[in-house]
Amino acid sequence: MKTLILLISSLIIMRSILTKNINVNIDSGSGECAYINSFIKRENSYDCCTQSGITCENNHIIKIDLQDYYYGGPIPREFGKLSNLKELNLRNNHLNDSIPSELGFLSQLERLDLSHNQLNGIIPSELEKLSNLKELYLQSNKLYGFIPRELGNLSKLQFLYLNENSLSGFIPHEIGKLSNLKILNISNNSLKCPIPYELYTITKLKIMYLLII
Ligand SMILES: *[C@@H]1O[C@H](CO)[C@@H](O)[C@H](O)[C@H]1NC(C)=O
Ligand SMILES: *[C@@H]1O[C@H](CO)[C@@H](O)[C@H](O)[C@H]1NC(C)=O
Ligand SMILES: *[C@@H]1O[C@H](CO)[C@@H](O)[C@H](O)[C@H]1NC(C)=O
Ligand SMILES: *[C@@H]1O[C@H](CO)[C@@H](O)[C@H](O)[C@H]1NC(C)=O
Repeated sequence: MKTLILLISSLIIMRSILTKNINVNIDSGSGECAYINSFIKRENSYDCCTQSGITCENNHIIKIDLQDYYYGGPIPREFGKLSNLKELNLRNNHLNDSIPSELGFLSQLERLDLSHNQLNGIIPSELEKLSNLKELYLQSNKLYGFIPRELGNLSKLQFLYLNENSLSGFIPHEIGKLSNLKILNISNNSLKCPIPYELYTITKLKIMYLLII
């Protein structure tokens, strides 16, 4: 009898260990998949890390590279919760609506490419919080309003493409603070002269497309 009880109880313990392991396996894809599964049109439980274009490391999504797909609709605000994301590339899709200000929470982000979509609205000044950003591509959308002067706080920025939008007003002097900038393209917008002299003090700047039309 004692042995039987012992056997049963050890079976129960074994089962609970096994169940725990199974739970761990379900979560291992990354709890963060919850923020992206509906965007990539997958069911809730899908392990998004197995999707091509999505890279995970230590149970975190670190890269979303979904260029040239047919994703439409808005960029989900939940993407702002992917706190380990280094790269977000949604170039050449059919995204519309405005750029969610929550993307400013992506403190690890080095590359943001939302170009060649139908995004409208203003460029959110919250993007200034992307202190690791090196590349920002927002060209060929329908963005309007002013270029936020806060973009001058992106001290690591090397590539800034805002061309082919409907941006208006003056080019902010603060863009001249971007001392690491190599390429600036703001042509084909509705920007006004004069061009701030600070832009000419950026020594690393190799190419500057300013065409004011
Ligand atoms: C935005 O894209 C979605 C999905 O493609 C579409 O259903 C919706 O009509 C679009 N909205 C606008 C304003 O274009
Ligand atoms: C960001 O830029 C704005 C406008 O140029 C400035 O007032 C602000 O102090 C800057 N913030 C940081 C954190 O550098
Ligand atoms: C800058 O933008 C203009 C207009 O979109 C484009 O024709 C030109 O090739 C761009 N230059 C670079 C270096 O991207
Ligand atoms: C950019 O503006 C120039 C001058 O108005 C125009 O010739 C050119 O077609 C525009 N490029 C695009 C891609 O809209």
